Amino acid sequence: MTTAPTPSIFEPARLGPLTLRNRIVKAATFEGVMPRGEVSDDLINFHAEVARGGAAMTTVAYCAVSPGGRVHRDTLVMDERALPGLRRLTDAVHSEGALAAAQIGHAGLVANTLSNKTKTLAPSTRLSPPAMGLVKGATLAELDGVVSDFERTARVAVDAGFDAIEVHLGHNYLLSSFMSPNLNKRHDRYGGSVAKRAEYPRRVIEAVRVAAGSSVAVTAKFNMSDGVPKGLWLDQSLPIAQILEADGHLDAMQLTGGSSLLNGMYFFRGEVPLAEFVASQPKLVGYGLKFYGPKLFPTYPFEEGFFLPFARQFRQALRMPLILLGGINRVDTIEHALDEGFEFVAMARALLRDPQLINKFQAESVDEGLCIHCNKCMPTIYTGTRCVVRDALVVREAPRPAQ
Ligand SMILES: Cc1cc2nc3c(=O)[nH]c(=O)nc-3n(C[C@H](O)[C@H](O)[C@H](O)COP(=O)(O)O)c2cc1C
Ligand code: SF4
Repeated sequence: MTTAPTPSIFEPARLGPLTLRNRIVKAATFEGVMPRGEVSDDLINFHAEVARGGAAMTTVAYCAVSPGGRVHRDTLVMDERALPGLRRLTDAVHSEGALAAAQIGHAGLVANTLSNKTKTLAPSTRLSPPAMGLVKGATLAELDGVVSDFERTARVAVDAGFDAIEVHLGHNYLLSSFMSPNLNKRHDRYGGSVAKRAEYPRRVIEAVRVAAGSSVAVTAKFNMSDGVPKGLWLDQSLPIAQILEADGHLDAMQLTGGSSLLNGMYFFRGEVPLAEFVASQPKLVGYGLKFYGPKLFPTYPFEEGFFLPFARQFRQALRMPLILLGGINRVDTIEHALDEGFEFVAMARALLRDPQLINKFQAESVDEGLCIHCNKCMPTIYTGTRCVVRDALVVREAPRPAQ
């Protein structure tokens, strides 16, 4: 517990070189509105709406550092071609008084190789269901290339007017998989001991910081636990976090967990929308999901602030600013997090359900969001990410066409 008085949720706060208008960041939720990687008006409107709703900063989800780093072909590659669209996006967010962060990453084993039509990368050779086959361990030259991709992407993010860059070190995407003992079986400088498994993510973060300069914040979305047997857990993620803190390149860490490869429900909790997932997939994948779904998506009951017990261990071990994430839906949860010394909180589903929630919190008209953790928004990432409950209401509220 901190001894200083607890700051108010709506007090501005520093995040590296930035001042955020309050303590709430919209966490990345893949928006599903980048057909073939284009920045669309829908993507811009999505973030303008979050900004208008009172969040201090909105995070543009998963921007790939290269075509091979995409999750699938409808993922944005943050390169020079995307600059004009991204500038419109950051302008729209800024005009609503909020800041904009870009989540940048390489999908690694999570990539859908068939959809991307490019080779994907892994720390060491293994089967990847999204790749529908074997993914080979990356060579040192390939890994050097990815570092350059991160550097170039960071420069594009700055040129596009982003205030912060969030490096994806979670959910078993490429950088996260390097930290995981079950996925990284390398015997070179990037594999083996905990310190060696931290080495590649460290190199990337340093490169991003150098490329980004000191006027934008650099943060990491960091896996505390993969949530799978023999995966990364706190005994190894805590020392890695301490190493990253000592490197001094990060302005904050957003604490997450789980694996988009091996345990997709760990960072959600709540209901498993299996039928909706099956329906959203091509027939063959749908059959596979019906069979393997219960194993891939085990049920975890939802609990408010579900990552707090793990995140608290990091708060105690680190001095750097930390962003609490996971099941935050209520004002008292945010107050509690600030009281425990977390500088910010990040919210995803609660703001999908109601992008105006932060304004409502500030006006004290509500003290709890409406998200029911049904997770039916998850399969909508293929058709334009939305809360299906809110969507149903909007349809009902839409004006009737003139007779
Ligand atoms: C529809 C949807 C899409 C998501 N896409 C991403 C993503 O692109 N990158 C990421 O790091 N997390 C993604 N997440 C995870 C959220 O950022 C967050 O970690 C998770 O939902 C837990 O926070 P919450 O309880 O506030 O929803 C997504 C979540 C949802 C619901
Ligand atoms: S669909 Fe809506 S209510 Fe259900 S989890 Fe997603 S945001 Fe919450």
